[in-house]
Amino acid sequence: MLKNINGKELRPLITSDQISTRVREMGEELTRDYKDKNPLFIGILKGGFIFLADLIRHVELNVELDFIRASSYRESDRPGEIELLHDISAPIKDRHVLLVDDIVDTGATIEHIREIILSRAPASLKTCAMVDKRERRKTEIEPDYLGFEIEGGFIVGYGTDYAGKGRNLPDIFVIE
Ligand code: IMP
Ligand code: MG
Repeated sequence: MLKNINGKELRPLITSDQISTRVREMGEELTRDYKDKNPLFIGILKGGFIFLADLIRHVELNVELDFIRASSYRESDRPGEIELLHDISAPIKDRHVLLVDDIVDTGATIEHIREIILSRAPASLKTCAMVDKRERRKTEIEPDYLGFEIEGGFIVGYGTDYAGKGRNLPDIFVIE
C-alpha cells in the first residue's frame, strides 16, 4: 500500500469502512429529503468526484448530475480568490440543486460556487461535503450535509490530493 507521497508520511485518519458507512447514511438521508423530486447534484472537481460517485449509488431517486471545476489560489498571494475552470452545462432554473465537494476548509470555494448557482434561480440549493475543517473557516458557510468533521491538518485520499497525488487512496490520511 502507498505509504508516502513526495517523501511525506501518511497517517491513517478515516478508514474506507468508516467512509462507506457514512456515505450510505448520507445517501439515505438525501433519499428522504429529496423524496418526489428529481434533484441535480453538482460535483466540484476535481476533489469531489469519488465522494459523489459513491454517494449517488445510495440515492434512490431520479438524480441528475453535472460538474463544475474551480481552482483556489490557496498558497499564493491571492487567498480566497476562486477561478472557475469549467462551468456546468445543465440549466439550473427551478432545479433542486445539491453542491457536492470533498472538503470545506476556508469555505471560499463552495461559497463562491453557491453564489454563481444562486444567481441562476434554482428552486433550492444545498451543500454537501465529505469533510469539514472548521479551524480555518473564513466564511459563514455550514454544509447542509456533512460526512466527517476534523480538527485541521492536511488530508489526502478518497478524492483529495496532496500536490496532485493520492486521490486514489481508499482511506483518508493526514500528511505528517
Ligand atoms: P476552501 O476554498 O478553503 O474551502 O478549500 C476547498 C478546497 O481546497 C477543497 O475543495 C479541496 O479541494 C482543497 N482542500 C482544502 N483542504 C484540503 C486538504 O486538507 N487536503 C486536500 N485538499 C484540500
Ligand atoms: Mg476541491
